[in-house]
Amino acid sequence: MNQMSKTILVTGGLGYIGSHTVIELVEKNFNVVILDNLSNSTLEVLSYLQEITGKSLPFYQLDLTKDDLDVLPKNIDGILHFAAFRHVFESVKQPLKYYHNNINSLLRLLEWMQKREIQHFIFSSSCTVYGDINTLPVTEDTPFGFPLSPYGHTKQIGEIVLQNFIKTYPAKIVALRYFNPAGAHPSAKIGEIHYEIPQNLFPYLTQTAYGLRPKLYVYGGDYPTADGTPIRDYIHVMDVARAHVMSLQYLTELPAGTYEAFNIGSGKGYSVLEVIQAFEKSTGIRVPYEITKRRPGDTAAIFADTTKAREKLHFQPIYSLEDMTLTAWNWEKTFRKHISHE
Ligand code: WQD
Repeated sequence: MNQMSKTILVTGGLGYIGSHTVIELVEKNFNVVILDNLSNSTLEVLSYLQEITGKSLPFYQLDLTKDDLDVLPKNIDGILHFAAFRHVFESVKQPLKYYHNNINSLLRLLEWMQKREIQHFIFSSSCTVYGDINTLPVTEDTPFGFPLSPYGHTKQIGEIVLQNFIKTYPAKIVALRYFNPAGAHPSAKIGEIHYEIPQNLFPYLTQTAYGLRPKLYVYGGDYPTADGTPIRDYIHVMDVARAHVMSLQYLTELPAGTYEAFNIGSGKGYSVLEVIQAFEKSTGIRVPYEITKRRPGDTAAIFADTTKAREKLHFQPIYSLEDMTLTAWNWEKTFRKHISHE
């Protein structure tokens, strides 16, 4: 794709991964149009994106499940679709909210894409499509397992919808299966926003370090891993953002009517205790924690085989676990200062 003239619609562009990807797209000379319904973000994020990129960045506050998409500009050449609810725990408590939002958003967006004759589409998928894993590392050929949450199920449904869609419409589609995105932009002006008690490890860790939580609870110390705590494949959100731009460039080489999925991970597995150690090393701050019982639905260990993304997308993560912990910490400090002024 000759980037100079290409315009990309980023749905969920004010969200955690979407906002970091907007920066990467602008730096690689794409024009960007942001769509977001602000259900999990604020217009402050747009102003920070404009400050970081130095661009005005057209923004449309639209809900993909119901609003008229024809208000969007006519010159869209490709779509990065991030807009979805993404909290595993919340999806277990509110399954219909997740099925309705995540599936209907995708279906209406695809209908609009076909009407506009847009061909290039990147889908934000997840390693949760694999379900409970027995063989590691996970390759893209691993069949979908029984989904451990409605969230993971909506990602499986999304991928299957897309595989059926290209049988009737000559799109070029890439699905990126994120493992555990973490960290924040080096400027600390954007990052993962959490208003309620976070379910994910990194935000709970940084909130504990900030003094908002008395201690971090480590969910399980009796797993069959080296230190007994569960292992995940953490990858810096800036690496995830870069993978999207590389996928856009890859898409142009695909024949029409193609669908390909890639694991987006670091290919390394780190335990919860190793994340805590990396945080303490990178920030110099000790984190009080207590090892408690396992969290239902958690798997002992999962990490990616990254061969396919390396060979076909030429994608290699460049940030380390300590980069993730330090940038997450710098963002937490900025975010706390900011909301304390509200
Ligand atoms: C990580 C590890 C917990 C909180 C995430 C996303 C999901 C998907 C996959 C993209 C686990 C442990 C956590 C805490 C802890 N990504 N933990 N104390 O469950 O791997 O899923 O990645 O689609 O959307 O949710 O991430 O951050 O919740 O947990 O000990 O307070 O940290 O047991 O081993 P998870 P997580």
